[in-house]
Formats: sequence, C-alpha cells, structure tokens
Amino acid sequence: MTTTTTTVTAGLLAGKVAFVTGAGRGIGAAAARLFAREGARVLLAARTEDELKSVAEDIRAAGGVADHVRCDLADAASVRAAVDRAVELHGRLDVAFNNGATIAPPGPLDEAEEADLDHVYAVNLKGTWLAMAAEVKAIRATAGAGAILNTSSVGSLMGNPELPAYAAMKRAVNSLTASAAVTYGPENIRVNAIAPGTTLTEMLHAWDAVSPGVIDGLNARTPLGRAADPLEIAQAAAWLLSDRASYVTGAVVPVDGGMLA
Ligand SMILES: NC(=O)c1ccc[n+]([C@@H]2O[C@H](COP(=O)([O-])OP(=O)(O)OC[C@H]3O[C@@H](n4cnc5c(N)ncnc54)[C@H](OP(=O)(O)O)[C@@H]3O)[C@@H](O)[C@H]2O)c1
Repeated sequence: MTTTTTTVTAGLLAGKVAFVTGAGRGIGAAAARLFAREGARVLLAARTEDELKSVAEDIRAAGGVADHVRCDLADAASVRAAVDRAVELHGRLDVAFNNGATIAPPGPLDEAEEADLDHVYAVNLKGTWLAMAAEVKAIRATAGAGAILNTSSVGSLMGNPELPAYAAMKRAVNSLTASAAVTYGPENIRVNAIAPGTTLTEMLHAWDAVSPGVIDGLNARTPLGRAADPLEIAQAAAWLLSDRASYVTGAVVPVDGGMLA
C-alpha cells in the first residue's frame, strides 16, 4: 500500500497584520489582495473610499480579512490615525507597505510649479516619513518585531528629466529606508524599499497620456521588453515583508525587468 503525504504550506504572511497605503488601486491594491491570500489581515489606506471599499470587499468575498481607512498622506493626523486603526482592529501591527504616492505634471524642473514640488514632497516623502514613524511605534508596542517596505522607483536611481521632483523624493525615500534600517535593525524591525520599473497602473497611464509614447520608450529600455503587471511588483513586496526575507534590511530592491542592469 502506498501512502501519500500532503504538505500544507502556510501563506507567506500567515498570522500577520499588514497596513498598506495606496491600496485602492494599482500596485497597492494588488499587494493588499496578495497579502490577504498569503494569510495576512490587511488594512487598506488611501483617500478614495469607493476604491478602498471595493478592494476590501473583494478580499473578504474571497475569504480574506480586510478593512479600510481613509488616509491623506499629506495630513499628519490622518496618517497616524490610519496606522493606529490597525492596532485598534487587530491588537497588533506586524508589517507595513508604504506605497501610496503621487506625481507632478511632467516637465523640466525650471518649468515646474513650486506648489507641485511641495505636494510631491508632502505626499511622497513627508507622508512616508510620518507613516514610518507611526508604524515603528505601533510594531514596537505590539508585535515587538516586524518589517516595513517603502515603494521607491527606478526613477530614484537615475536621472529623471521628465519627473525631477518625483525622482528626488523617491531618492530621499531610499535614504530614509537605509537610515531606518540601521536605527531599527537592533529591534528586529527590518526596513527595505522596492524600486518598481514600468508598471501598468493609473499613474503610468496618466503620465503616458500627457507624454505620449512614454510606455513604449520605457519598454524599449527594459531587457524583458515589457511593462509589469502590478501583481509582479506585489509578489516582491510580499516576500520582502515576510519572514523568508529575515536577513534582508536596508535594501532598495529593483523590480524593473532589468531596466537598471
Ligand atoms: N506605475 C509605475 O510605473 C511605478 C513605477 C515606479 C514606482 N511606482 C510607485 O508605485 C507606487 C504605487 O503607484 P501606482 O503606480 O500603483 O499608482 P496609482 O495606481 O496611481 O496608485 C496610487 C495610490 O496612492 C494613493 N495616493 C495618492 N495620493 C495619496 C495621498 N495624498 N494620500 C494617500 N494616498 C494617496 C492613491 O489613492 P488616492 O488617490 O485615492 O489617495 C492610490 O491608491 C507609488 O509609490 C509610485 O510612485 C510606480
């Protein structure tokens, strides 16, 4: 008689409470769905409630655990309240994906509006800073150890003449990531960033709409020859936030089809 052994593998994020910003669409929505499939209880944050609700409902319909909270990354009180909501709901925070961000109208820096620079700073850099600070406190007070992942960009690692303010803030996010990894490593709170390449989301399509041909041009510079589906970025995020990446901290990991190679 032969016996068959079935090995059940727990999800990458089983048992973890995950906070995801920019979770209403694009990379953040793909990540929230994937994290839930991988066993996490997920709190989705962004400004547009309809989008958040719809993704959270889908996750619950598929058997996952998801809630949403409105959050404007440009508003410090709202960022802190959103992170605190994860602890109110689940009593802990284990992992956080600081992914929400915005772009300014493309163009050379001497033609940029000062207000656009200020907005990109407020959302992409200060918002990330505020979220990281609140997340470290929440992780330390509850789970005790955990992981934070920031969404940077390939644009942070090269000249970006079309989006100079965006690229500058993303490079600053890389710096925050490294500094926080050094500061919180001794507490076993890992801090990394991913640098996505061309990814088919509303943000990219909006850029392509005002600068026609951008997607084709980027794909021509990408060894894999195509743009990413948001889920391909989310897969890297799930791994970096999971215990399988337990010795990875302070890294900016390109998920870019080879564009930086
Ligand atoms: N797509 C690409 O090719 C690409 C490449 C490199 C890096 N990235 C990065 O990937 C991340 C996700 O972008 P995406 O491509 O998925 O873009 P997206 O589809 O436009 O999604 C952006 C998300 O961020 C949220 N957001 C924007 N401003 C916000 C604010 N003030 N407060 C809270 N949430 C805010 C949006 O929701 P609300 O508008 O409802 O608030 C939305 O959920 C960003 O960090 C982006 O810079 C994207």
